Amino acid sequence: MIRCNISRVVMVCAIVLILIFMFRNYNGDPRSASDTPQIIELETTYVPPTTLFSPPKTSRASKPPSQPEKPQSVAEKFFVFSPRCKIPYVDPLKSELVDVMSDVPLKVCSMDQDLFSVLYDRKARHYTLRVNQDFVKTKYADSSDLHCVYREVIPGSNDSFAMTNSPQVFEEYFVVPRHFLGVVVQCNEMKNLSQVVQVDAFSFAQYPEDRNETSDDWRGIHYPSVFLFGVDSMSRMNYRRTMPLTSQFTSQQGWYEMEGYNKVGDNTLPNLLAVLTGRSTKEWSRNCNLKHPGCFDFVTYLWDHFHNAGYLTAYAEDLPAISTFNYLKSGFTRKPVDFYLRPFLMILDHVLETVDWFDQKYCVGRRTSFSYVFDYAKQLIQRFVKETSKPLFGLFWTSSCTHDHPRGGELLDGIFVKYLEQFKEYGLFDKAIVVLFSDHGSRYGELAEISSGFLEERLPMLHIYLPPHYRRRYPEVARALQLNKNRLTSAYDLHMGIRSILKPIRPGLEFVSTIECYGCQSIFETVPRDRGCDEANIPYHWCACDTFVPVSSSGFTKKLAGMIVYRMNKYLAQLNLDADCQRLHLRKLVRSKRQLHFDSVGVEVSPIDGMETFQLQFITSPNGGKFRSVINSDPTGTYVDIELEGISRLNSYRNESQCVEDMLAKKICVCRKKKSNGSSIVDESSKVRKVKYSWIADQEDEYDDSNDHVVGRIRIYQ
Ligand SMILES: *[C@@H]1O[C@H](CO)[C@@H](O)[C@H](O)[C@H]1NC(C)=O
Ligand SMILES: *[C@@H]1O[C@H](CO)[C@@H](O)[C@H](O)[C@H]1NC(C)=O
Ligand SMILES: *[C@@H]1O[C@H](CO)[C@@H](O)[C@H](O)[C@H]1NC(C)=O
Ligand SMILES: *[C@@H]1O[C@H](CO)[C@@H](O)[C@H](O)[C@H]1NC(C)=O
Ligand SMILES: *[C@@H]1O[C@H](CO)[C@@H](O)[C@H](O)[C@H]1NC(C)=O
Repeated sequence: MIRCNISRVVMVCAIVLILIFMFRNYNGDPRSASDTPQIIELETTYVPPTTLFSPPKTSRASKPPSQPEKPQSVAEKFFVFSPRCKIPYVDPLKSELVDVMSDVPLKVCSMDQDLFSVLYDRKARHYTLRVNQDFVKTKYADSSDLHCVYREVIPGSNDSFAMTNSPQVFEEYFVVPRHFLGVVVQCNEMKNLSQVVQVDAFSFAQYPEDRNETSDDWRGIHYPSVFLFGVDSMSRMNYRRTMPLTSQFTSQQGWYEMEGYNKVGDNTLPNLLAVLTGRSTKEWSRNCNLKHPGCFDFVTYLWDHFHNAGYLTAYAEDLPAISTFNYLKSGFTRKPVDFYLRPFLMILDHVLETVDWFDQKYCVGRRTSFSYVFDYAKQLIQRFVKETSKPLFGLFWTSSCTHDHPRGGELLDGIFVKYLEQFKEYGLFDKAIVVLFSDHGSRYGELAEISSGFLEERLPMLHIYLPPHYRRRYPEVARALQLNKNRLTSAYDLHMGIRSILKPIRPGLEFVSTIECYGCQSIFETVPRDRGCDEANIPYHWCACDTFVPVSSSGFTKKLAGMIVYRMNKYLAQLNLDADCQRLHLRKLVRSKRQLHFDSVGVEVSPIDGMETFQLQFITSPNGGKFRSVINSDPTGTYVDIELEGISRLNSYRNESQCVEDMLAKKICVCRKKKSNGSSIVDESSKVRKVKYSWIADQEDEYDDSNDHVVGRIRIYQ
């Protein structure tokens, strides 16, 4: 009888997941809800609704007192001060931000006691999953009152696809087979099978099966493991502001902060891929046309170099629906690393209840999104740093708290530093080189709009840790990092630095700069003091070397802003998008800044060629779009030069540009609304446009439209 009932429940519980993602080829951001994967067939078990709980008051680690960093000398009033690069110092705790920052209430995803626990048997090298008897006894006579099942998470044939096996019944515990990536576990009440007691999910860092371990012990000692921890959208300043506990952790001995680390592209993909591949978007997209599913398989990443040198490799990133390689892109068709968490995370999103907080999925089931990533890192550290030494290269990336919210770091801080403390106990900081970094700062929203917003956007945090033995063995690397702290550096330098860790391991290899990046060099070697953005391969628009000061937002600057809007409309016309997009108009010039020019001792001078550079922040109608752009102009506004590619969109365009795919067009296009009967198109604004812009059109020849190389570059994404 019971058997019969059970099998019926098993049938009901069976989950078949077929996830088909839309393969669209576009690497823009922000990520909109309309692009979440379609689930063709999905049946979830009953899961009690999850809500956010305020943790008990004591659980919040007290913030360390804010330590104002007071620059002492003239040179210290700049992050970087050299003839060709002057990045002024910004106090992260400046008063302008008092209104912006406030205490963010911490939330936990579940207050229930854990029903399941995971143990690892070091000798037998397997995990065991246990039903926590203490918890059972609080409510039931014994575990026979519960009906528990587990489902194995199975990676699909590609990134867009993952499944779970049919549920297997277990009692009290089961030994997790050595090939399992993860499981979803659930117990129901035996006497009322529709009553769920708890659902949870666990990943496993399994001991590698088919590895020649002959020299692992030796190598684990001699070759440092490399752990990259990434926090999305975190500027150097905002890290100090929102993550004071972690900041304190990374101020300890062995850590080197790169204060002149400058982003090289707009959003996550170009910046993270610059670190992982050492190539600009223009270069890697020669091998990888995003239109072709699986093109990411044909790019060489840091983990490939480390794999070839005998390292184990790992990569985990939260928010799988919008992760770096997968948001509107098809990701990998083959597993890129040995330890790849994505299939597991994809299943979780669909079988567990999720709760949003700070505009992204914060809770997945009983835990935060990012905890799955760092728990996986923890398992790998336990297995391959603490227990059996094996060289490992891993990237662990989180964007769930910080991608859409400048204060999200506050949610992460206390928990992240606890992870770091644990990693320390497991010996990570005795053996591994650790990099804590971000891709870029706040690209839009509160922080992008404050007066230091220019730098907030351009200076992602970068902290590099060298373990004691590495510092002893390579004192020149420690010295170089110390010197590079206040020099201009980029993701390409970081890439070359991380790769150079392999030099002693594979001495035959040459690590040359690419042709595109003749001035790039390993961040582990002293970079030239007098270095400009050109040498570091940082596009001018993203270059933080030029300092800007506020000027009046009327008259001349307003005229320039009108020209930029004209140029934006013209770009849409060049792509034949004027039928799809509405004309933009300048509604308001919000903020204007003029570039300062310094001589070699920090005294301000006039520009040599007479072309002043302005940075304008303005709002367009009809969409209320907030933009920032750089424009060069002679004193009369007759000769102007607009770098179209560098126009930043400061507020989210959400779905207003869904009718176009081009990356730049997405930032500026406001799709026309089709009339309900679909035949004709409304555009009340077109008449206004002709009058207002006729004078600019008359001066068309004066325009420097020779930016065609820019258009060519943008077409890569189409
Ligand atoms: C991914 O796998 C699914 C299921 O096997 C398949 O339908 C889909 O076409 C695959 N996608 C790619 C890009 O290979
Ligand atoms: C069984 O559990 C379900 C779900 O919690 C509940 O709605 C139902 O009332 C329970 N049935 C009995 C007989 O207790
Ligand atoms: C494992 O590697 C060592 C040298 O690194 C080699 O001597 C040995 O033959 C290898 N074993 C197998 C089974 O390949
Ligand atoms: C954008 O999304 C919102 C909410 O989902 C909807 O109300 C609005 O009509 C959408 N706009 C367009 C242009 O589709
Ligand atoms: C579309 O609507 C307009 C007015 O609302 C009407 O004049 C026109 O005939 C309609 N067209 C079609 C194809 O229904």
